[in-house]
Amino acid sequence: MIEPRPELSKLSDYVPGKSMDEIRAKYGLTDVVKLASNENPLGPSPKAKEAYLKIVDTLHLYPRGDAPTLINALADFYGVKTSQLVLGNGSDEIIDMVGKAFIRQGDNCVGITPTFSVYKFTTLSNGAEFIGVGEGDQKTDLNKLAAAINEKTRVAFICSPNNPTGVYYTGAELKEFLDKVPSNVMVFLDEAYSEFATAEDYPRMFDMLEKYPNLLINRTFSKIYGLAGIRLGYAVSSEQVIKAMWKIKPPFDINLAAQAAAIAALSDKDHVKRTQELNAEGIKVLKPFFEGFGFKVLPTQGNFICVHIGPKAKEMVQFLEENGMIIRGLTSFGLPEHVRITLGKPEENKFLMDLVEKWVKG
Ligand SMILES: Cc1ncc(COP(=O)(O)O)c(C=O)c1O
Repeated sequence: MIEPRPELSKLSDYVPGKSMDEIRAKYGLTDVVKLASNENPLGPSPKAKEAYLKIVDTLHLYPRGDAPTLINALADFYGVKTSQLVLGNGSDEIIDMVGKAFIRQGDNCVGITPTFSVYKFTTLSNGAEFIGVGEGDQKTDLNKLAAAINEKTRVAFICSPNNPTGVYYTGAELKEFLDKVPSNVMVFLDEAYSEFATAEDYPRMFDMLEKYPNLLINRTFSKIYGLAGIRLGYAVSSEQVIKAMWKIKPPFDINLAAQAAAIAALSDKDHVKRTQELNAEGIKVLKPFFEGFGFKVLPTQGNFICVHIGPKAKEMVQFLEENGMIIRGLTSFGLPEHVRITLGKPEENKFLMDLVEKWVKG
């Protein structure tokens, strides 16, 4: 028998949100809405769709692995050098590349918890230990994360806005943290939901890259740009970090369609604006709705809300699912009494609210 690496015994399988097809088949439903995976309810950027269709006759060609047009477009967009950017097959692959390039067996990584599970997965799969620091659904002081760092620490993961709580960190908080972190520890700042943040003190961290070469900013086309299906994420950091990541990156993992669609999406300001407006409307409607039933809604800067339902959270998720509404229970995140709901279109939010009301009123 071929034995897998011993690190694999510590890994549990990733549990994705349930798909609409799965729920349709399971309960014999036709109308199913999914507000469970923080996808864009408006769909892909129309400009991206157009660009995607245009490349269809070149599908027999390999893509340029270094994606120069997309890299140039991103460098222009953020005002950084092209040598400060690397792409991944989804930002999941960015996290994976950080693991391969920087995390060694016997190291540790620290992170604010509860949070996106892939940081821990990558840490464990590279033979390191993951040290989570957190206070349930409350915002955790970054000083506590700094205190968890020791001589074996390679990466500190911070997700802001955080999945699943929606919590964010200000520029002052992040700067204070960066000042405390040793320069040989990477600060992995996951900004997958940054484009939804509306807080005045939500920071533009690109300005801090020069001062902190150990800072890496992770972003994705999956959320605001509505391109989760094409798998495209990117990281911006110092040249030395980015160089190491290009070295271990699989050569053709950013496919032709992804490159074309992303370049177009980046320039689609209208789609971004419409998505942000829809998001703001969703918060305005859903927050008072849940609070009206006495449920706590955490303040969010993302495209989702985290709601404390109580001991019956699982029962509510199940009831909604049986009636064609998929949301995310947070047991696997360590918050068994909470749910995470992606903000949808008005009719989707209404469908959700009608069902929740039905469940509450029994
Ligand atoms: C915080 C965070 N980071 C990264 C990702 C991965 O996104 P993708 O691989 O689609 O770019 C997700 C996906 O939900 C996420 O919530």
